[in-house]
Amino acid sequence: MQKLTFLSLACAALAQVTNAQIAPNSYSYAESDWTNDITTAQSIGIDGFALNIAANDYEVDRIVDAYAAAESLGFKLLYSFDMTYTWQQSDMVNIVANHSSSPSTFLWKDTILVSTYSGESYGEDFWASFKSTLQSQGIDITLAPAFTTYRDPSDATSLVSTFPSIDGFFNWWSWPADVDANLTTATDLAYQAAVSSLSGPYIMSVSPWQFKNLDGAGDWVEYSDTLWNYRWQQAVNDVKPDIVYLGTQAPLYVDGFVHAAWRDVAQYYISWFKTGSAPTITKDEPSIAVPGSLPRNAAYPEDAVFALAMLKDTATITLAIGSNTVNFTAGAGVTMGSVPFPQRIHKSPISQSAGTGTTVVDTHGSMYVNQNGCTYYNFNPFVGSVSE
Ligand SMILES: *[C@@H]1O[C@H](CO)[C@@H](O)[C@H](O)[C@H]1NC(C)=O
Ligand SMILES: *[C@@H]1O[C@H](CO)[C@@H](O)[C@H](O)[C@H]1NC(C)=O
Ligand SMILES: *[C@@H]1O[C@H](CO)[C@@H](O)[C@H](O)[C@H]1NC(C)=O
Repeated sequence: MQKLTFLSLACAALAQVTNAQIAPNSYSYAESDWTNDITTAQSIGIDGFALNIAANDYEVDRIVDAYAAAESLGFKLLYSFDMTYTWQQSDMVNIVANHSSSPSTFLWKDTILVSTYSGESYGEDFWASFKSTLQSQGIDITLAPAFTTYRDPSDATSLVSTFPSIDGFFNWWSWPADVDANLTTATDLAYQAAVSSLSGPYIMSVSPWQFKNLDGAGDWVEYSDTLWNYRWQQAVNDVKPDIVYLGTQAPLYVDGFVHAAWRDVAQYYISWFKTGSAPTITKDEPSIAVPGSLPRNAAYPEDAVFALAMLKDTATITLAIGSNTVNFTAGAGVTMGSVPFPQRIHKSPISQSAGTGTTVVDTHGSMYVNQNGCTYYNFNPFVGSVSE
């Protein structure tokens, strides 16, 4: 079975509410913007975009542009309807039907894969009739929704009995649930098993970081210090889902914070996911990430600089910030380490990777870490990288 990776891309500003960071939305997108995003995504092995659609409004025109760009680049698109908005079933049917014969419409076993954000409150009858209406037009779909209230592993069997019309499942949850602990694969494994006898895919989401600051509509951070590395490890080693869904647009960009280094990590794991074995690293590349009224769970992220080393050979990584220095040994492959902030600092972090007694690469972070007198708390991490 082919392994695929999709990146979530908002088709509407409000659809992005469900994602980690306020990322650019497609309201003002032209076809050339789609072309840029697709080209960037393809360069790291992403197969398609999941278009999060909140309403049958301007989004319909953006979809036309997205399809035009995708078709010329051989890229795939799938719809993820944001069901926290009010949808007329006929509008959803028209949207799916409109591009159903496009070569860029992503097919799962010769049927159109359709996903959602939420939608369980619409009830089984709504979903059954959505599918049968499309079928009466000669369009077969595979429905793999992200019914977000299904997170507890013990609810997995009732998901399938309550919604006989679903064909697969998309587990939205790719960060810990308001706890100071790492996410486990318990939810993934339970829901993967629950849909394993159905025809559709198990879609697992992987995200680098979860921080939301929406002035009243939500302001929280979830414990994500090492999430980008261990969640990928869970995907490639433990869960091995049919499709990896990269939540948030973070691997491409977030509001002024450059997350390009995360893209390199994604590229490495996407290759591993698809081929089943860890790719050979050809250059040494440690990257560093620093997290910036306090959001909910503000105490969970460590006050530390993290380094994710992607190395071709064993090396010692030195991380320093202010008066603190930590050395750790990293083997070939991906290893994470961290150095805590000193008590009072106003310094930019240094990361360096040393081979056999000689410094291979070193760098300074371009952002200063300031622990004194913050008036605005930003838990968006700064991500930098250095490579040989
Ligand atoms: C269907 O696609 C055409 C262009 O091919 C577009 O003009 C129209 O708005 C679309 N309608 C819907 C419902 O998606
Ligand atoms: C999460 O896992 C990392 C290793 O990936 C470990 O260093 C860290 O202590 C764990 N965090 C918690 C809160 O258990
Ligand atoms: C880390 O390694 C560097 C380079 O070898 C060395 O100068 C420094 O003393 C070491 N620091 C610690 C805390 O081990």
